[in-house]
Amino acid sequence: MTITSDGFLHKYFLSNSTKRLHKWVHYFDIYERHFSRFRGKGPVMIEIGVFGGGSLAMWREYFGKDSKIIGIDIDPECKVHESDGVEIFTGSQDDPDLIKEIFKKYPLVDIVLDDGSHMMQHMVSSFELLYERIQPNGIYMVEDMHTCYWAEYGGGLRERGSFMEYAKGKLDELNAFHSRDVLPVSTFTKSTDCIAFYDSVVVFERRPQGMRQALITTAMNGMS
Ligand SMILES: C[S@@+](CC[C@H](N)C(=O)[O-])C[C@H]1O[C@@H](n2cnc3c(N)ncnc32)[C@H](O)[C@@H]1O
Repeated sequence: MTITSDGFLHKYFLSNSTKRLHKWVHYFDIYERHFSRFRGKGPVMIEIGVFGGGSLAMWREYFGKDSKIIGIDIDPECKVHESDGVEIFTGSQDDPDLIKEIFKKYPLVDIVLDDGSHMMQHMVSSFELLYERIQPNGIYMVEDMHTCYWAEYGGGLRERGSFMEYAKGKLDELNAFHSRDVLPVSTFTKSTDCIAFYDSVVVFERRPQGMRQALITTAMNGMS
């Protein structure tokens, strides 16, 4: 594994002796690559799926004292993992009223990490409820996407309705400008900079997109 920054998260994970933390090791490199620009900048992060509360504590430590970490979990017992800078909302990740309540309190969310039920319908609903609400330079990450290949989660190879197929469709939407009007240019097209696919993880990076331009320069440029 290559850690792209100082490897804080992996070191934290290895020395964790408090709340339960369960992560695939190769995720740490992905987190560092996409999240490091928010460190020390007081981001607001939503993590769907709290379980033992270990990851919420890790994010708070990583992003710093001005950050706000919001957990969503269907299990009311998870509330015990609230602490300074960490708030937990109880309910299902696909509940529009719950999402509205969170955004009413925290309108400026920078990062969403979906580590919730990993059921296909929930993953798609959460993306549709949250993606366009997050900050224009924000990040939406989904992990444990291996369930996209598993029938008991509503997945399967090339299964319609799996979040993997949904994300592949978003790749076309990202390129809609070039589809000769086959695909409409959507808000997603205009607000998404890139989609990164990894083993079991997909990352959507938001950034307002300007008009596409193809320019030509030659060796004559700059010569008098
Ligand atoms: C994989 S665990 C989260 C692990 C945690 N993020 C970590 O890294 O240690 C998944 C959690 O999702 C919660 N969950 C299951 N279905 C859910 C739903 N529909 N909405 C919100 N949370 C759900 C479960 O209660 C469980 O706590």
